[in-house]
Amino acid sequence: MAIEQPATRPANPRFSSGPCAKPPTFELNKLADAALGRSHRAAVGKTKLKDAIEGTREILGIPADYKIGIVPASDTGAVEMALWSMLGARKVEMLAWESFGAGWVTDVVKQLKIDAEVKTADYGQIVDLASVDFANDVVFTWNGTTAGVRVPNGDWIADDREGITICDATSAAFAMDLPWDKLDVTTFSWQKVLGGEAAHGVIVLSPRAVERLETYTPAWPLPKIFRMTKGGKLIEGIFTGATINTPSMLAVEDYLFALDWARSVGGLQGLIARADANAKAVFDFCDANDWIANLAEDAATQSNTSVCLKFTDDRIQDGAAFAKAVAKRLEAENIALDIGAYRDAPAGLRIWCGGTVETADIEAMLPWLAWAFEAEINAQ
Ligand SMILES: Cc1ncc(COP(=O)(O)O)c(C=O)c1O
Repeated sequence: MAIEQPATRPANPRFSSGPCAKPPTFELNKLADAALGRSHRAAVGKTKLKDAIEGTREILGIPADYKIGIVPASDTGAVEMALWSMLGARKVEMLAWESFGAGWVTDVVKQLKIDAEVKTADYGQIVDLASVDFANDVVFTWNGTTAGVRVPNGDWIADDREGITICDATSAAFAMDLPWDKLDVTTFSWQKVLGGEAAHGVIVLSPRAVERLETYTPAWPLPKIFRMTKGGKLIEGIFTGATINTPSMLAVEDYLFALDWARSVGGLQGLIARADANAKAVFDFCDANDWIANLAEDAATQSNTSVCLKFTDDRIQDGAAFAKAVAKRLEAENIALDIGAYRDAPAGLRIWCGGTVETADIEAMLPWLAWAFEAEINAQ
């Protein structure tokens, strides 16, 4: 039976999991104060870079003795500079339950060829966190963006660990509480939860991470864009705004705007509440409809940012083609853009619920999802 198109449309159809929707108050002209055409080493540029670092510290509640650096190549650059600079000092445990975590496994096992214990879980599940041995270094992704599975909290991370923890928090930072005392290296990119621009990554180092950098020299060469020390000492400038190479001052201005917007919605707790409300609207929709379900099996691990969904109706003949067709229908109606599951993930949809998305837009989009589902069942 065909169902009628819902009357209400989302004001903003952007539900992409990265680059994510800009803050609702964003307009290009709000970046007019950008230090364009000036050296990023001039006072104006340096001040803005320092404001970006200290604004990050303020909103994320990062301790005063942690270092925050703006680095090249987005989150990938930030993670890889940590892997290449710090690993190899001791055995490493690699935890992965979706494609980004799996990418870091490839780096460590196939490229760096480090002695590693690899623990993986299928999409929708998570590895046995209780089995992790913190005598080792541990690399993991806080929120697996392509599976919609996150660690439930940081309780499983030992306070008295001997190794360091390296956490890719790209789709978690600004949407989830991150326990800084448990995280030695934390990375994210601007293009995710705050809806910033791509290209720049952020790396956050605990005092223990700095100690590793200053006391351990890897056996392999490091390119300039990965180097955080000189003569066995941390290059402090990287963590005060003297970036390794030239940053985009337009992207910096955009990030400063996003941080201001974050303050206006109540900082981190306001952002978390917005993501939680968005995700709850999707979870409730799944509870109310027996043809769709959360890919994340355990409620404690269900992401509040990259919510991944699978179709469960046994009338569906070709799961991958069906999910693609539903996403295409919603895109054609300008209801939801870029919500197809990640290319390596199981067939389905992925709806970004981070704080820059308005709950009213999620609520307006969901009845359309029901409409597109019915239309596609009829069209098979
Ligand atoms: C968990 C995770 N890690 C890494 C990345 C790569 O980020 P970037 O493209 O900003 O380097 C992403 C992007 O979606 C991600 O979600």
